[in-house]
Amino acid sequence: MTAPAWHDVAADTDVTEGDVIGRIAADRQLAIYRLSDGVYATDAICTHGNASLCGGFIEDDGSIECPLHQGRFDIRSGRALCEPLEQDLAVHPVRVQGGRVWVLV
Ligand code: FES
Repeated sequence: MTAPAWHDVAADTDVTEGDVIGRIAADRQLAIYRLSDGVYATDAICTHGNASLCGGFIEDDGSIECPLHQGRFDIRSGRALCEPLEQDLAVHPVRVQGGRVWVLV
């Protein structure tokens, strides 16, 4: 397994508040979000099934709702918030620098 590295995944302007975009870095599918307090990154694939959270809905409380069975994860922590989810989602550190969004993967 290789050590985590910072990956340039998007222009800062690509990530708009209330939206989620998909990117791939280090062979991993990522979901990138902008909330009121910053930009966040999680794994894009739901821990319950094979659904991409990039097709999900961001709620006002900072959670993402899976489009398949409506499980919700806290975007900031990855915590699974309700059934049918049993496993938290991986979150990845983000920094915004030079107009670009970087994710540690
Ligand atoms: Fe996401 Fe079932 S696949 S809640």
